[in-house]
Amino acid sequence: MNALAATSRNFRHAARLLGLDSKVEMSLLIPFREIKVECTIPKDDGTLVSYVGFRVQHDNARGPMKGGIRYHPEVDLSLKLMLMLLLICSWKVDPDEVNALAQLMTWKSAVADIPYGGAKGGIGCNPGDLSKSELERLTRVFTQKIHDLIGVHTDVPAPDMGTNAQTMAWILDEYSKFHGHSPAVVTGKPIDLGGSLGREAATGRGVVFAAEALLAEHGKAIKGLTFAIQGFGNVGSWAAKLIHERGGKVIAVSDITGAVKNPHGIDIPELLRHKESTGSLKDFQGADSMDANELLVHKCDVLIPCALGGVLNRGNAADVKAKFIIEAANHPTDPEADEILAKKGVVVLPDIYANSGGVTVSYFEWVQNIQGFMWDEQQVNKTLQNYMTRAFHNIKNMCQTHDCNLRMGAFTLGPQSSLHCYKNEFTGSCSDRTGNSSHQRLPKLDATLITAIDFET
Ligand SMILES: NC(=O)c1ccc[n+]([C@@H]2O[C@H](COP(=O)([O-])OP(=O)(O)OC[C@H]3O[C@@H](n4cnc5c(N)ncnc54)[C@H](O)[C@@H]3O)[C@@H](O)[C@H]2O)c1
Repeated sequence: MNALAATSRNFRHAARLLGLDSKVEMSLLIPFREIKVECTIPKDDGTLVSYVGFRVQHDNARGPMKGGIRYHPEVDLSLKLMLMLLLICSWKVDPDEVNALAQLMTWKSAVADIPYGGAKGGIGCNPGDLSKSELERLTRVFTQKIHDLIGVHTDVPAPDMGTNAQTMAWILDEYSKFHGHSPAVVTGKPIDLGGSLGREAATGRGVVFAAEALLAEHGKAIKGLTFAIQGFGNVGSWAAKLIHERGGKVIAVSDITGAVKNPHGIDIPELLRHKESTGSLKDFQGADSMDANELLVHKCDVLIPCALGGVLNRGNAADVKAKFIIEAANHPTDPEADEILAKKGVVVLPDIYANSGGVTVSYFEWVQNIQGFMWDEQQVNKTLQNYMTRAFHNIKNMCQTHDCNLRMGAFTLGPQSSLHCYKNEFTGSCSDRTGNSSHQRLPKLDATLITAIDFET
């Protein structure tokens, strides 16, 4: 099941639990605005090439919209290809996928209780095929086309697949030509341009705080428990390192190059050094190699998928031996696997909460830029811990109120808090749950529209 299907399914289930009117439910699913722009640049050899950039802004009830900008070949929308695709009546890009990811950002921000809505976007290109100067030109042209539709209090992009701190620096520079110096228009910037300390580790660190909150609920702690971690990139390696520092035993790790196991616990700093010097997990002396697929069903206390979506499915869910699963990757568990795991008594901490540390520290970056005051790393990490712990208890409250699992506890939080804002808008008092009404709100729906439109259910 893809991201769209899984997000819609979870949202609809949550809507039932909340008793939402079907028309209100539909209004929360429809994006606020979809933007598509043509971006033509000269390549280094002087020839022109055209790409299509896009941005889906899902919802702004709780505050400015927030989400990544990705450069990815799967969303290759060069005009030539677009014409070919239109001719054969098929569409290589899955706009629904981007809509789903934008929607997921709305709910994730609400779960983290940060005053943002959700957005997602990107350019259909293969960044690996472009030189640095071509990427810069493309990013600047894209920014010129959308600068009136993003902004500090409107929509705040961040890095995603195929983009990085450098991309954000180009967007910031180009945007500032039109609007004056505006560091808060993007997050995930280089530190020198107003990026936040602690951002690089934030998602992995948030995963560990989330795990601590869950384990504490079950009378346990990281120390002494065994962990299997799929993925050793940004999120997986930070999670592994912090678990190791807390006395947890990481007994299995995998990435695209292979998998290793050691029942006594892998020396994670050593594995990081090995990966850094060889680029691979293979031939690591401190552990035995293992079948990468076996990692997901390896005997351990806590399984943390930090790589791909859909890795836990009906094919392997029955064989999972972990007691807890912390979803660091986006949608790693298929709904079918969810049901099987629930029957086995496995506790699943959902992605929408477990990997929200990144967007939470992005919010801290935005706050620091607006304050014009930089926090030290300790303050960033401590505040992140407070947010992750509070969010866990908010989810637990929803679980109790609606007699549901943690995934539904998280998914009911999002629509409920967006609705609080809309209700305030309908009655003329526009403020979010924190009482902050300072950000610019854009009209999305009014009460008359909700009752007038006969949505299909
Ligand atoms: N980085 C963030 O801030 C962030 C925030 C929220 C969610 N996420 C999600 O977390 C996941 C990981 O993100 P990341 O930033 O660490 O990405 P990354 O590219 O840094 O790392 C991905 C890791 O997955 C491994 N991998 C790929 N295919 C694999 C396979 N078949 N088996 C085992 N490992 C495999 C790669 O080798 C790599 O180690 C993704 O699902 C991403 O959407 C990341």
